[in-house]
Amino acid sequence: MTDAPLVVGVSGSRRDGSHTLKGIKLALAAAEAEGAETDLIDLGDVDLPLYHPDRDAADSGDAVDLLARVRAADAVVVGSPVYHASYSSTFRNFHDYCGFDEYEDTVVGLLVVAGGGTIASTLDHMRVTMRGVHAHVIPGQVGVRNASSKFEADGTMIDSDIADRIDALAEDVVEEARIRMAARDQTETASVDD
Ligand SMILES: Cc1cc2nc3c(=O)[nH]c(=O)nc-3n(C[C@H](O)[C@H](O)[C@H](O)COP(=O)(O)O)c2cc1C
Repeated sequence: MTDAPLVVGVSGSRRDGSHTLKGIKLALAAAEAEGAETDLIDLGDVDLPLYHPDRDAADSGDAVDLLARVRAADAVVVGSPVYHASYSSTFRNFHDYCGFDEYEDTVVGLLVVAGGGTIASTLDHMRVTMRGVHAHVIPGQVGVRNASSKFEADGTMIDSDIADRIDALAEDVVEEARIRMAARDQTETASVDD
């Protein structure tokens, strides 16, 4: 019997009251409603220096802990604010610590949050950079335009269409994670039977 999938949410904003963080929390709540376990990584609340290729992760604040949490995930929902038509440096800095070990065989859903209307390029940039670490990025994705008018201060989503899209993203991520977990179980059972 396969366990509940673990879905990790990563929010790539440092801003107090971040709309990205609100969106990621909604996605994790929807994943829990689908029976998943969840873990939230708020990159606005971690100690993570600028990635340095000559420095060990062990000497880089919370990096070892954060990478272990991503490696443990069956699925990750990554969120970034739109900065200059792309993702934030906060998202990118964490992503530079990550590699195949973190994302191989991991399902990924994408969520971006824009002050204006620029979402497509940011989603494309996130998709290609997640593919670069061998993540299985699902086709569905969510972009929130005009974010300040879409969330209540307590994180409630005002726009029911976007709320539905976030729910659908979480459902798809959990479903895909379950499919991959079951396939892994079958492979392990088959190799035990050999
Ligand atoms: C440096 C910077 C660049 C931004 N560039 C864009 C942009 O290109 N398009 C856009 O729609 N909003 C842009 N914004 C607005 C943010 O996307 C918006 O404030 C968003 O809600 C921030 O996410 P957060 O609330 O999670 O921090 C920019 C904001 C900053 C600080």
